[in-house]
Amino acid sequence: MAKMWAGVTDGNTAQLADDFNSSIRFDSRMYRQDITGSMAHAAMLGAKGIIEQSEAETLIDGLQSILDDLVSGALAFDMTCEDIHMFVEQVLTERLGDVGKKLHTARSRNDQVALDLRLYLAEEIDQITGYIRELLVAVTDKAEQYKATIMPGYTHLQRAQPITFGHHLMAYGMMLTRDLDRLADCKKRTLVSPIGCCALAGTTYDTDRHFEAEKLGMSEILRNSLDGVSDRDFCLELLSALATLMMHLSRFSEEIILWSSWEFKFIQLSDAYTTGSSIMPQKKNPDMAELVRGKTGRVYGDLMALLTTLKGLPLAYNKDMQEDKEAVFDAVDTVKMCLQVFTGMIATLTALPENMKKAAQKGFINATDLADWLVKNGLPFRSAYKIAGQLVARCLSEGTVLEDLPLEVYKEYSDLFTEEVYSAIDLTACVATRISEGGPTVASVEAQIAYVKDCLA
Ligand code: ARG
Repeated sequence: MAKMWAGVTDGNTAQLADDFNSSIRFDSRMYRQDITGSMAHAAMLGAKGIIEQSEAETLIDGLQSILDDLVSGALAFDMTCEDIHMFVEQVLTERLGDVGKKLHTARSRNDQVALDLRLYLAEEIDQITGYIRELLVAVTDKAEQYKATIMPGYTHLQRAQPITFGHHLMAYGMMLTRDLDRLADCKKRTLVSPIGCCALAGTTYDTDRHFEAEKLGMSEILRNSLDGVSDRDFCLELLSALATLMMHLSRFSEEIILWSSWEFKFIQLSDAYTTGSSIMPQKKNPDMAELVRGKTGRVYGDLMALLTTLKGLPLAYNKDMQEDKEAVFDAVDTVKMCLQVFTGMIATLTALPENMKKAAQKGFINATDLADWLVKNGLPFRSAYKIAGQLVARCLSEGTVLEDLPLEVYKEYSDLFTEEVYSAIDLTACVATRISEGGPTVASVEAQIAYVKDCLA
């Protein structure tokens, strides 16, 4: 099919080459941004007298009619067009005749596509931000509900020290809060305008790049025209922020999968967010969490794909860069789905405090508190640590726990021991006395929830 860009070539490309080259099947999703960008460009051309003011108005009206018709469905994408930019320009020229052909003055698809993608991703960042905020509301609500529910905290997946379920959940609250921050930061560098960089070397027309940028809600412009058309850092920053976010969701998923297993049974997922087995009637599978964990690999892949695509590309635009969009679109689509499902899953899960408590009682997670009690009663920490260790070994050999060990036995190891030791190793007391900032006390978890809510406000 003969091309709008037929010049030195006759533009009669092979069908196979067209299929390979074209991007409209995935870049048509940027039609709104493409049209909005073109409107700003037409306005600038008119304002600067590069085209007649009346022509600029005609172009803007024509672009608006294309937008309206695409939204209403009166106009469909022509999949034989190379990309969304060519499609809009083609329809505009069909509708307006020669005036339509003036739109591309002082512009190239290179700065155009960079602009479209920036505008598009800035909106996606807003949507993703909204979904993270909803997830944070679900997480903080659950943390509030379970701020006094004791569970074992783990290191090496071995029971370590007592915490609360609320405390554990708020760890994810903090991660998600940082994710919000990273996205906000990334948005700043996304909303910088490349338009006016043209193909790579600017233009001979007296354009006003700031005029266009301001019209599009961008407060800054890219200051080097080669960089302006070649920079895809904003895509990489977004992909890396999304990869980090998915890593958080994946760790959370892993714990949800463990906690809902028969081996832990710390939580119960709602039927709405679990599946059954086609053969084993007893099964309730945490598919949502597993899929989020699985899709994390896919988002990492998107990041690696684009890093690899960009590595070694000479300046300025190269067609390789068309590969940016599928990677970044796949990542944003995946993340948005994961966040929404995750929020539903968290909001509807229930904890099983009795099981958490039982597990907390079994793992000697108060052994540190036992040692600390001896220290407070005059022993150096290392000696106290050793005695506590010997007492744990004694419990293990007798099949008992520190709470149930008689005082006479304690006294065999140190005559500092008194009745008081039992209240120091009581799990509720163990949590309540970990008063350092950021710790598991109810007041501390409340402060953490308040901090997150503050960030959301
Ligand atoms: N579809 C192209 C892309 O996504 C648009 C830019 C084309 N530029 C060019 N010089 N062929 O990158």
